[in-house]
Amino acid sequence: MASLTIRKLDDALKAELRQRAARNGRSMEDEVRVMLREATHRRPEIAAGLSQGIPQSFQSTPAEDSGQSDAAWITLIVGGGIAAYKAMDLIRRLMERGATVRVVLTRAAQQFVTPLTASALSHQRCYTDLFDPNSEFDAGHIRLARDCDLVVVAPATADLMAKMANGHADDLASAILLATNRQILLAPAMNPLMWDNAATRRNVAQLQRDGVALIGPNAGEMAERNEAGTGRMAEPIEIATAAEAFLRPPQPRPLAGKRVLITAGPTHEPIDPVRYIANRSSGKQGYAIAAAAAAAGADVILISGPVELRAPAGVALTRVESAREMLAAVEVALPVDIAIFAAAVADWRVVGAGEQKLKKGAGGPPPLQLTENPDILATVSKLKANRPALVIGFAAETEHLLDNATAKLARKGCDWIVANDVSPATGVMGGDRNTVHLLMKTDGAATIEAWPAMTKDDVATALVARIAQAAGSQIA
Ligand SMILES: Cc1cc2nc3c(=O)[nH]c(=O)nc-3n(C[C@H](O)[C@H](O)[C@H](O)COP(=O)(O)O)c2cc1C
Repeated sequence: MASLTIRKLDDALKAELRQRAARNGRSMEDEVRVMLREATHRRPEIAAGLSQGIPQSFQSTPAEDSGQSDAAWITLIVGGGIAAYKAMDLIRRLMERGATVRVVLTRAAQQFVTPLTASALSHQRCYTDLFDPNSEFDAGHIRLARDCDLVVVAPATADLMAKMANGHADDLASAILLATNRQILLAPAMNPLMWDNAATRRNVAQLQRDGVALIGPNAGEMAERNEAGTGRMAEPIEIATAAEAFLRPPQPRPLAGKRVLITAGPTHEPIDPVRYIANRSSGKQGYAIAAAAAAAGADVILISGPVELRAPAGVALTRVESAREMLAAVEVALPVDIAIFAAAVADWRVVGAGEQKLKKGAGGPPPLQLTENPDILATVSKLKANRPALVIGFAAETEHLLDNATAKLARKGCDWIVANDVSPATGVMGGDRNTVHLLMKTDGAATIEAWPAMTKDDVATALVARIAQAAGSQIA
């Protein structure tokens, strides 16, 4: 094996090496060892450069140069819970997003998953031991704590959070968590009673005060038989998305300080206690707008009819059933700066919907008499006090799209209409794509923009961008 003589390095390189070694409190020989190990373990391009005899400059650590060309480095600490198996999927999800993931398994975690699995999935060595001579000659636990851009703990067990909240450092995971100066993201997972326990509540509150971020836990079925409640670890995709948000450079927040109200989904109008009139709205477009507005920094209130969708991150969600409940929730939410009425509110409800189930009888089907529901868009558009500065309605039409939408813009008194063709052939109702026209009232006349077909997420992003543009001039 070749030996390396520091004396023979060129002067500039030697000076750089001396500085770096002094900074890290190591001999120059040890510093070279660390760098070579870094190069082969973590930086294939440096390893390749070295093997070609190219003396690459001594690269900064991932944390030092994060945000430049390098991928993000994540230290993933896996605690000893049933959800540890899901952390193996999380490794993949983080890597799909371009991150390099170094996994630390606690002793308890190794009861659920093995270091072999973690290192095979991460393509990195898996770390388990604080007192590991192979890693500690260069303070390995400090490097895992600092040579990264983010520390993720998934699952974060009750025990691990208790240790963090109290500053313990008696194993590799807790020592890293105490020594890191990077953002920590916890994905707690535990039995609902453990999560609700006063000690866990105290520890979580302390950790949040300390600046630690949490994702989940979610509500649902637990691994234990007949156990349900809040305590399920957030899904790997949710954790990866939250991690990505920390690693992305801060996004512009053009709607910061604006209160935005959005309605979404269908309404259900009861016929009797078990039957109702509904429509095919999925709520996807309204939820996408809520997510985009929240991402733009707005304070978002989402009032939703019955749909199967989760509340987007950072959005205050109120669920309602009928048009009248939706109007009541809207009135509670006012005043707002911007109101976007994307819900497909039923035009009619059944008069005298009974408290008992209608029965079949000799007299034939019962007559259903309909009456008009309140018009939420018109009500808010025509408010004398508390009218939002920008009111946007949706027109879902199956024919004469632009004529109907233009008439609706004039009739309802709103400022903009997003018009979409919801004929069954378009697949818009329930689908993921939409083709819209944006009608804007300017100086009494309507201007019309035809947008190309795109995903509902993209429609939402484009609409929020238009609102942000208008916010400067129209919205006080
Ligand atoms: C089968 C089994 C499942 C467990 N699941 C969890 C869990 O989901 N969450 C939790 O906080 N503790 C759970 N525990 C308890 C932890 O394993 C225990 O508190 C351990 O000390 C945590 O170690 P850690 O700090 O390395 O995570 C479980 C224990 C067993 C035996």
